[in-house]
Amino acid sequence: MNDFFQKDIISIRDLGKENLESIFSATEKIIDLESNQRREIARGKTLGYLFFEPSTRTRLSFQSAMALIGGTSLGIADVSSSSVQKGESLSDTVKVMSSYTDVLVLRHTLDGSSRFAAEISQKPIINGGSGTEEHPTQAIQDLFTIKREKKNIDGLKIGIVGDLKYGRTVYSLLYGLGNYNVEVHLISPEALRIRSDSAYDIKKQLSYTESTNLDDYIDDLDVLYVTRIQKERFPDEEEYTKVKGSYVIGPDMLKKMKDDAIILHPLPRIDEISPDIDDAKQAKYFEQAEYGKYTRAALLGLILNENGF
Ligand code: CP
Repeated sequence: MNDFFQKDIISIRDLGKENLESIFSATEKIIDLESNQRREIARGKTLGYLFFEPSTRTRLSFQSAMALIGGTSLGIADVSSSSVQKGESLSDTVKVMSSYTDVLVLRHTLDGSSRFAAEISQKPIINGGSGTEEHPTQAIQDLFTIKREKKNIDGLKIGIVGDLKYGRTVYSLLYGLGNYNVEVHLISPEALRIRSDSAYDIKKQLSYTESTNLDDYIDDLDVLYVTRIQKERFPDEEEYTKVKGSYVIGPDMLKKMKDDAIILHPLPRIDEISPDIDDAKQAKYFEQAEYGKYTRAALLGLILNENGF
């Protein structure tokens, strides 16, 4: 039986290096398979999606992934059009949706929401982003992109810049990178440094430097992972205004980077990466978004098939 069969995917911390590497191999297989072979992987299976926060990539890449492997999907993209609007609880919504589907992806505003849903659901739950806590399938996609573009994750110098306080993709990525031998530099405004409770756990696996100055590292990085300042999570809009636009990666910054460096971003971007560099060979964020379809198809294939595919 494969390790992922009927398993919940709540936190990247539940996955070791071997688990991650097996998802990457399964992803390569998905990419290489003929389309008629792919479509056998989830034939007759249904993905449910339940999104309490807006999404473009996560929801649509899950739907696209399920179609790619021959399954169907149904769900709630906007809870205002569901019975949640009448006051139905998360618990009842998950219970009912899991009776209609084979696997459920949940995005919710609250930390801990996916773990709570997994206790109720009859079917596996995949965390599609929970509060400021984690976004494990984004980290799988990010790590896969790094491996595919740089051939190896071990030995790389990785800079993570932007909103390190509220950006949940950063936490999942750091926990995932803890499985590899990498040099990590965290660059953020002072007010948006990594949260101290998570830093305590991350430091058990990974050492990193912290700075406010991207210029100190930019010319030495193999990977620059840029994040959006998460306006919607600031308790006070004035605080957001103070840090808005702190880092902008444009042509001048690009000139300082190594020729074979890559620039990633979980997207959506606002103003932290200038569209002027979208065609640069280092800009890999749209490829990264596309890999999300393949990594999620691989994950779904492993969750739904006892012996893998
Ligand atoms: N990266 C990501 O989670 O994008 P969406 O919010 O559009 O799903």
